[in-house]
Amino acid sequence: MVLHWLIALGMICNVALALSADYLPDDWVRPVIDLHKSIGITVLGLAIVRILWRVTHKPPPLPEHFPRWERAAAHAAHVLLYVLIFALPISGWLHDSAWKDAATHPMSLFHIVPWFRLGFIMDLPPALKEHLHDVFGAIHTAFGYVLYVVLALHILGALKHELIDRESVLRRMLP
Ligand code: HEM
Repeated sequence: MVLHWLIALGMICNVALALSADYLPDDWVRPVIDLHKSIGITVLGLAIVRILWRVTHKPPPLPEHFPRWERAAAHAAHVLLYVLIFALPISGWLHDSAWKDAATHPMSLFHIVPWFRLGFIMDLPPALKEHLHDVFGAIHTAFGYVLYVVLALHILGALKHELIDRESVLRRMLP
């Protein structure tokens, strides 16, 4: 539960920070993107812990009387969300490591912990790096779009059980 809500909070903050960057005063953009990167790397760490937890702790099954299609849809959304909590930070990290100014703008998590970029990307020739910067940026954005859709379905599913079926699955995720 703790990992679920921490990761959810991190993902939602990061979407809000990234989408607001275009509307902020110029001198806010760099600190906001730096915070986005710090939260993103933290989410990646939490996602690794979550997978380790998941393989050693079986979650309680969904109620048997839920229709099969609902259980299958919930399962598919969960699998996709697990993929996205890795795919979003990793694609962002790749995108950032291919940034031409990466070497002169060292990364640090929350201005506390110095953090590394991916050396095998940083060492590529500048023209290829520039190209990859665009490619990884487009992939990062595309994963963002997938997240909006899957997250909306995930929340709508939980609300359906809460408000229409009157059988809360949300309570399973609360202490
Ligand atoms: C929780 C994980 C993350 C989420 C949910 C996320 C989400 C997003 C979204 C939605 C965008 C806006 C894309 C667009 O519409 O153009 C974005 C942009 C960006 N992200 Fe991430 N991201 C995550 C992690 C990271 C990480 C770990 C890094 C780098 C270490 C990173 C670096 C960037 C950069 C540099 C941009 C472009 C910002 C700009 O110049 O406008 N992201 N991210």
